[in-house]
Amino acid sequence: MIKFDFETYATPFLNPEEYRNLLSQKEYYRNKLHESQMIGWTRNIDPNLVEKIKKVANIIKNQYDCLVVIGIGGSFLGSYAFHKMFQRYFQDNSFEIIYAGTTLSAEYLDELLAYLNTKNFCVNVISKSGTTMETSITYQVIKDLLKRKFGEEELKNHIIITTDLEKGKLREEVKEKNYVSFEIPEDIGGRYSFMTPAHLLPLAINYDLDKIIDGYFDGKRLIDQAYEYAVIRRLLFNQGKVVENYCVYEEKLSAFTEWLKQLFGETEGKNGKGIFPTSSIHTRDLHSLGQFIQDGNKIIFETFLKIENNNHYIEYKGKNLQEINNLVEDSVMRAHFSGKVPCLEICLDHLEIETVASLIYFFQLSAAFSGLLFDVDPFNQPGVEIYKKEVRESLGEI
Ligand code: PA5
Repeated sequence: MIKFDFETYATPFLNPEEYRNLLSQKEYYRNKLHESQMIGWTRNIDPNLVEKIKKVANIIKNQYDCLVVIGIGGSFLGSYAFHKMFQRYFQDNSFEIIYAGTTLSAEYLDELLAYLNTKNFCVNVISKSGTTMETSITYQVIKDLLKRKFGEEELKNHIIITTDLEKGKLREEVKEKNYVSFEIPEDIGGRYSFMTPAHLLPLAINYDLDKIIDGYFDGKRLIDQAYEYAVIRRLLFNQGKVVENYCVYEEKLSAFTEWLKQLFGETEGKNGKGIFPTSSIHTRDLHSLGQFIQDGNKIIFETFLKIENNNHYIEYKGKNLQEINNLVEDSVMRAHFSGKVPCLEICLDHLEIETVASLIYFFQLSAAFSGLLFDVDPFNQPGVEIYKKEVRESLGEI
């Protein structure tokens, strides 16, 4: 179950008339969203595709020691964030998934190659465009290791490609070499691609895919709250609150805040507009950034992601530690509110697969509404393309 509290510490900052007025325009923005060509992420997933994903995931699990997922941005963060949330902090016994392709660090790649040299591994390279520099470099380097280790003939048993159905170098490679492949649909952009094989294949290895899919589409019923969240953020922005800080009290959620930063940052940040997303892990960051948030420049509002309950009991002075964590969270919201920092709260009953998948749909919907409320295209990322072009010009085609 997901509960929302936007009233206690956020709406008091809004002009009630403006708030009511924008809330009443929900149907207009909903229709606008439905007119977009890029909302494939709202469409039900094909059951045949789900079966194929499960089948390939089972093969990976049964035949290899680990899977290397190569991708970046929207082709990486969704499954990475989800996986990090459900992995144990210690003694994790899930099937090993290694995420690569997000850095050009030679040290990282060299150490990874040395590690992989001791493993029977396969790779899932994920890139919608098939031209992303970090992904291409990492893929080529790891493919060379695969060739040396298993031989050219064996590559088809170790490489799975997830890319556009028709376009790009990776699709050409699939056609030429007959590799196992999956498609990222034309009408789904990277940061909205959670419900595609880009994320579902790596996740299907360790998690119940049906629960993920059911939970995700169950998020559709949160449309009112998603619109309301977008409206409140938009109105806070009008008041100079141009930075949103996502606060989590469970470190396992830190990668999820990275996913949120990409989703909202790339969706809104264009034409000189948008809210800058950042994140804090509490209580750690209360002892560093906490000073600025409480007492510094009043440009910040916060969204707290709370996990109310868990199955761990650690007693301290007659209280469960989780209860103490929750009490601290409530106190911090009150303190920040008193320092003129609006605080929104999204509370999950438990950290569960279905609930997190619903939350992902909720945030995608809200980000899309938010882009429309800023009067920008929620689904493009021209700024990222400029950097990619500069790199291509200085390095040449990779
Ligand atoms: O959201 C986006 O579209 C981007 O962040 C992309 O996901 C990212 O740049 C990776 O692109 P690609 O999947 O083409 O390699």
